[in-house]
Amino acid sequence: MRNSICVDIALSHHEVPLRIKDIHRLRGADPGDIFCGLIDILRATSTIVTALGNCCLAVHPHSSPQAALDSAKILRQEHGYANVLLGGEQNAKPIPGFDGGNSPLEYTHDRIGGRRLVLSTSNGTKTLAAVSKCGRVFIAAFSNLTAVAQKLAEEAGRHENPAILIACSGREGGYCEEDTAAAGLIIAKVRHLLGKIELSDSARAAVRTAEHVGWDIAETLRNCTWGKHLARHGLGPDIEFCAKTDWTKAVPEMIDGVIEQS
Ligand code: MLT
Repeated sequence: MRNSICVDIALSHHEVPLRIKDIHRLRGADPGDIFCGLIDILRATSTIVTALGNCCLAVHPHSSPQAALDSAKILRQEHGYANVLLGGEQNAKPIPGFDGGNSPLEYTHDRIGGRRLVLSTSNGTKTLAAVSKCGRVFIAAFSNLTAVAQKLAEEAGRHENPAILIACSGREGGYCEEDTAAAGLIIAKVRHLLGKIELSDSARAAVRTAEHVGWDIAETLRNCTWGKHLARHGLGPDIEFCAKTDWTKAVPEMIDGVIEQS
């Protein structure tokens, strides 16, 4: 009789290696058995899901601006300079010399359709690097919450000894409410789809956070620490856009360090 599927959550990218080790200790699941949903609501995964939804060919995440510059140089030689955009932020501000920042509103179909995006951000791209050993890595935002929950339930349900890890990017190694609320909503949906699953303590707390947030997601994003910081920098429209829920069924997946539509 197969164990019920365990579901855990990392509250920031620093926690990811600890969660992977704990999943192995408790359930014997290896990183290859882990189905990961990665979240950075404000704003990396909101940007990634939007760009790919606007026909971006692929997103190449890098945890430092220099690594992004080096990657863009190689990709531009292969695909043509104009077909590769450099985007990202440091402390919410666009990186000098890059083509764009990290606002999902920048990556319209005209701007990114048919092109590649090389992206470096403060936390989100570091979390992507931290989960790269997991078996499958799906990119989640409020925009595709239900589609990601369905994908995780479907793929994990077919695996022999699966575990599900929701990896929140958090902020500077700490907890952030917006990512944890999104994680709790995904976990609640996965539980509804799979029935009996075993939640870690922090996964259960995330579900309670989601229940507390209720459905006033925009208000939660306006009042969270990073949301207030973005608003102070005139990025209020990004917050409203990142709060829009389930407007796409696209579930981008990272394979060998490159993110494409799955
Ligand atoms: C992050 O990676 O922490 C966020 O994407 C930061 C931002 O976009 O402002």
